[in-house]
Amino acid sequence: MRVLSGIQPTGRFHWGNYFGAIKQYIDFQEAHDGYYFIADLHALTTIRDPLVLRGYVKDAALDLLALGLDPERATLFVQSDVPEVSQLCWLLMTGAPLGLLERCHAYKDKTSKGLRADVGLFTYPVLMSADILAYDSNWVPVGEDQVQHIEVCRDLARSFNSHYGEVFTMPEAKIVPGAAKVPGTDGEKMSKSYNNTLGLFEEPKELRKKIMRISTDSRPMEDAKDPETDHLFQLYRLFASTEQIEELRAIYLKGGFGYGEVKKRLADVSDTYLQPARVRRAELESNPALVADILSKGAAKARERARSVLLRAERACGLKAT
Ligand code: TYM
Repeated sequence: MRVLSGIQPTGRFHWGNYFGAIKQYIDFQEAHDGYYFIADLHALTTIRDPLVLRGYVKDAALDLLALGLDPERATLFVQSDVPEVSQLCWLLMTGAPLGLLERCHAYKDKTSKGLRADVGLFTYPVLMSADILAYDSNWVPVGEDQVQHIEVCRDLARSFNSHYGEVFTMPEAKIVPGAAKVPGTDGEKMSKSYNNTLGLFEEPKELRKKIMRISTDSRPMEDAKDPETDHLFQLYRLFASTEQIEELRAIYLKGGFGYGEVKKRLADVSDTYLQPARVRRAELESNPALVADILSKGAAKARERARSVLLRAERACGLKAT
């Protein structure tokens, strides 16, 4: 299968990005043809400082490689290094119904708050559709918040295909049930825009302090508690082994424990889990030429594929001599 996904360089990556998406990229790279990119064009809809954007793109590449994305198995590249995607975006835009885009949550959330949205945010799902369709992608590993955009992509592909013939491969979202909506420090969905994130590469002591400040309910210690509805338990489960999970589940069901103890366990288990990636990241950081080379080879490979899909789409709609 061809697997494709993108991630925006709009800040440092957090646990939600990893368990909802990045971990899937890494798991899929073993047996599938993975294309993973840093969505800098999408990031332009929020970041308008060139130095900041460049820094985040560099961080994103280092983070993905340190977490285990292997350039020998998967193709890693920067979105804007494949201009064919923007060209394909235009072809899709000509057939994209306004109503479909008006229903998309990023745009709707902003305008419902009375904020003015720009055209880039409005057409964001069309660019995302071009990202997916440009590589004949079958599977798109994402968190729950991106499923609507993949539905838009499928709608656009379906209508293009029914008008012009079978041009695009129909993609499918891939979600991990227990990690599609990782909670943040306040129990809501972890998100850069909610300021409730736990960073993958935060300084370990700071991270531990943040974990100790995660909000909890105020039920008495003695009460038995349902682990399935508790966000601390949900976070713990992402990092822990089956035995560790079962042990903590039993403690919840029995009652008579303090959340401070659970937080300490979460801090320990996440620290052990993240430590090897911290070491790898430091090594990669000292070798910027290697990272630049990985991205440039990745872009060359991605471009080749996108070029052939673009030509197919252009010919189908009457551009370019056949
Ligand atoms: P972005 O950059 O907001 O997020 C990157 C990935 O992380 C997932 N994610 C989460 N998963 C579980 N729980 C959470 N709390 C959580 N927060 C974030 C997101 O679902 C996503 O998979 N539009 C995309 C980037 C993109 C893209 C694409 C993705 C551009 N083109 C083509 C797939 C295919 C975005 O903004 O993701």
